[in-house]
Formats: sequence, structure tokens, C-alpha cells
Amino acid sequence: MLDKLNEIEKSALESLADVKDQSAVDAWRVANLGRSSPLMQVFSGLGKLSKEEKPAVGAAANKVKVALEAALEERSKAVKETMLAKSLEEEVLDVTLPGRAVNIGRLHPSTQQLRRVLSILAEMGFQVYTSREVESDEMNFQLLNFAPHHPAREMQDSFYIEAEGREDNPILMRTHTSPGQIRAMREAVATNPQNPPPIRIALPGMCYRYEQITARSEIQFNQVEGLAVGEGITFADLKGTLTDFARRMFGSHARVRFRASYFPFTEPSAEVDVECFVCGGKGCQVCKNSGWLEILGSGMVHPTVLENGGYDPRRYTGFAFGMGTERQLMLRNKITDIRYFWGNDERFLEQF
Ligand code: DAH
Repeated sequence: MLDKLNEIEKSALESLADVKDQSAVDAWRVANLGRSSPLMQVFSGLGKLSKEEKPAVGAAANKVKVALEAALEERSKAVKETMLAKSLEEEVLDVTLPGRAVNIGRLHPSTQQLRRVLSILAEMGFQVYTSREVESDEMNFQLLNFAPHHPAREMQDSFYIEAEGREDNPILMRTHTSPGQIRAMREAVATNPQNPPPIRIALPGMCYRYEQITARSEIQFNQVEGLAVGEGITFADLKGTLTDFARRMFGSHARVRFRASYFPFTEPSAEVDVECFVCGGKGCQVCKNSGWLEILGSGMVHPTVLENGGYDPRRYTGFAFGMGTERQLMLRNKITDIRYFWGNDERFLEQF
């Protein structure tokens, strides 16, 4: 029996020399250490041996098993190293090959412009106040001093959500950011009714109008409204603030002009033009040969509006302004069709 074990060990080690890859390693393990291998058969035959023979054969078989396992381990390591060396040599990886670019997302151009405007106003001391997009007629029109039959209040001009049963005060999508003025003033007054604090806020957000969609008009667009209320605020403050804003927005050499205008919620009112930055004021298609581009509406807050906000107009004054941010982007980038903004054509959006 001991001779047989020697024989088993010798022939197993001999055949191990031929093992050259992983599958041969596995096959060798099955053949020489597997359940039906000659060695394992010796183990299962131990029971039939005599008491005297059993310990010696058992110990010898164990020794063979340990030796074969160690030899296999060593061989298997060598095989793995050879395979690795071979694959490193054969499968050369060209690390200089350019990778595939990952498309990263970006902010919508409207959001970018909105943030640009807000960050300039923030530098100038205006805090952001966000108001609601669904408003009542009272907030959107009445408290802003719109006359009862003002054309903007026609059913054809605004998106009404709920009108039946509340003809005096229907619910609508805000047509401008101005109703936020009333909400902001009332909120401030509530903190200290006897001595309301001064206000300096920027009010951004989407506005909605029931309009024919054309190259020049959309049914939704963003505005940023500004409001300053306090004691001793004058038209000079309005002019200084808006001139400064235009220079920060359009460049330090930007020339601005104030044109008398009319809005129900301001008195006096002015529209602000900036010198056309496409032609430098000489006259071109973008400025329709006028040399000027209108960028916003503004004015001193109407006493009635101050009062509706809870501020005593004998003590407080204020100015307000409102601008369309898509319009500014169109001017800035010579975009001729406002429909691009919500068209979601990536070829347009990718350019920002
Ligand atoms: N709400 C006006 C609009 O939608 C814009 C505007 C004009 C806002 C003058 C103001 C202002 O605050 O003073 O066209």
C-alpha cells in the first residue's frame, strides 16, 4: 500500500509538469485530488485495512495529499503569472486614444439670464422675494390701480382659472410680477404696523398672457420686478439705481435714457432705453434704426398702491421697475424669435 502511495505521488507530480493553463489546473485537481482520484480511493479504503496497517497508511496518504496540494498551489500561481505576462504583452491598451466626451447638462438660457439679473440686483442691495404665479384679480389688477375696464383685464388677454361665481375677483395666472409688490408690502407692514420697515426687493418669476404666439410674443415669459419703499426716496434714486443697473448689465459705457410713459401703478412713470449695443447707437435692424433699445418700465410707486400695501403715502415714497428677461436675452444675443425659448430645440439651447 505504501508503494502504491509513492506511485500515486510520483505520477501526479509528473503530470503536473504538463499543466500550462487554468483549465488544465482544474482538470488536474479533479484527476488527482477529486473524489474518484486514486489518492481519495486510498482514503476510502482505509476502513478495510487491518488495525496495524491503518495508522501508517493513513499518515502516509495524508502526507501525499498535503504534498500534492502544495505542488498544485505552486503550479497554479506560476500558471497565473505566465497568463498575466502573456496578456500584458498581447493585449496592448492604447491609453492615448481620446475618450468619449460626456454630455453635461446646463441651465436653461432663461434661468441663466434670470440669475444674472438677480445677482446684479443683489450686489445693489435688493433681496429676492418670490411671489405666487396664481393670483387673484384683486392683487394682479385692482390693488395696482388698474381701472375696472382696463383692456388687460379682458378675458382674451389673461388666463383665467376660476371666474364663475367670483366675477368681482376671478383667479388668474399673474400677467406680471407687480402683484408681488402688494404682497411684499403687506408682509413687511405686518411685522411692524406702526413703523413699517423699508423695502428693497427683486421679484423674479414666470408671467402668463393669453396671446397669439408669434416671433415677438409668447404666452409665458419671465420678469424681474424691483421695488424700493422708504422715507425720502425720490425719482433721482430711481434714475441712479436703474442707470447703475444698466451699466452693470450691459457694460460700463452703456448710455441710458428715460422716456416719460404711463403705468397705472406708478406716477410719474418712465421707460428706460439703453443705447443699442449692436450698432452703438448708429441705427440698425435690432434697434429699428432708432439707436435705442427699450429694456424696462419703471416709475414712482403710485400713492394709491402704497396705501393698498399698507404704507402711508404721506410719509413713504418708493420706486418700482419691471423687466422681461427673455427680451433682454434676445437683445443681447440677437435672437429674432421668442418661440425658441420654450421650443426646447437642443441646437438652440446648446449655444448658451
Ligand atoms: N408690470 C409691467 C408689465 O408687465 C412692467 C412694469 C412697469 C413694472 C413699470 C413696474 C413698473 O414695476 O414700475 O409690463
